[in-house]
Amino acid sequence: MSNNEIISVRNLKKFFGDVKAVNGIDFDVHKGEIFGLLGPNGAGKTTTIKLLLGLLEANEGTIRVMGLDPEKDEVEIKKKIGYVSEEPLIFKSLTPKDLFNFIASIRKLDPEEATERAKEYLESLGALEYYDQLIATLSHGNKQKIQVVASIMHDPDLLIFDEPIAGLDAKSVKVIKEIMDIQVDKGGAVLFSTHIMEIAQDLCDRIAIINRGKIVGIGTLDELSRQADRLGANLEDIFLRLTEQDTSVEEIVKKLRQSFNQRKL
Ligand SMILES: Nc1ncnc2c1ncn2[C@@H]1O[C@H](COP(=O)(O)OP(=O)(O)OP(=O)(O)O)[C@@H](O)[C@H]1O
Ligand SMILES: [Mg+2]
Repeated sequence: MSNNEIISVRNLKKFFGDVKAVNGIDFDVHKGEIFGLLGPNGAGKTTTIKLLLGLLEANEGTIRVMGLDPEKDEVEIKKKIGYVSEEPLIFKSLTPKDLFNFIASIRKLDPEEATERAKEYLESLGALEYYDQLIATLSHGNKQKIQVVASIMHDPDLLIFDEPIAGLDAKSVKVIKEIMDIQVDKGGAVLFSTHIMEIAQDLCDRIAIINRGKIVGIGTLDELSRQADRLGANLEDIFLRLTEQDTSVEEIVKKLRQSFNQRKL
């Protein structure tokens, strides 16, 4: 592993009974990079992320996150990572203010400085008005904003966001993009999952397309278009080609047209 690598994954496998959620994947994430895991529902994105965080144990393979093994160094790794999960926040009976104070105390941050910074981020996400409101009463998108702010309070080296954009309005997506850019400018890295192609295309330096537990393409948009034999194509065409859905989508459209025409007769 070179010094440039923040994440290194080799032959990673995770099975749930007969379900091969992650079935032998390899990838690296380098310093200064925004890396996207792009795949349809059930592709294995969240499972991969939970393995990186040591929240699940792998059946096979190796993971190194900043040189550490998540299964052995879970506590150490968590100090260096800012994580936003795909499930809603668990601290629903707190207000954002309580949550940020709590995080400042467990992370041993200067309480005033940390909460001041958190409030600034909250303001830029247009959610400062909810500072004293119970998290349980907030909308999905606003809960997600609180979670994003909570995850960056300790100034982590690596951000891992599981579907961070789902449910956010356009302005907030821009702010999240800004947060990711700041992260890479200071030499850190970002890994995030999404099933939305435009988001991956707009935000990522490199993308791994994951389907049924396997990586079917990896690289920059140009590299992916070469792998998919679709030079100059957009990510959607590349994605469909690499996940072998292009024919089936065409067939679905054809069938829909046929049934539409039949109904017209
Ligand atoms: N705890 C579990 N027990 C059994 N099966 C699981 C478990 N977690 C995930 N799976 C299965 O593993 C596969 C991958 O799931 P995963 O949550 O990683 O997908 P995903 O790419 O994050 O999908 P989504 O876009 O819907 O969030 C799915 O078939 C899912 O049903
Ligand atoms: Mg998921």
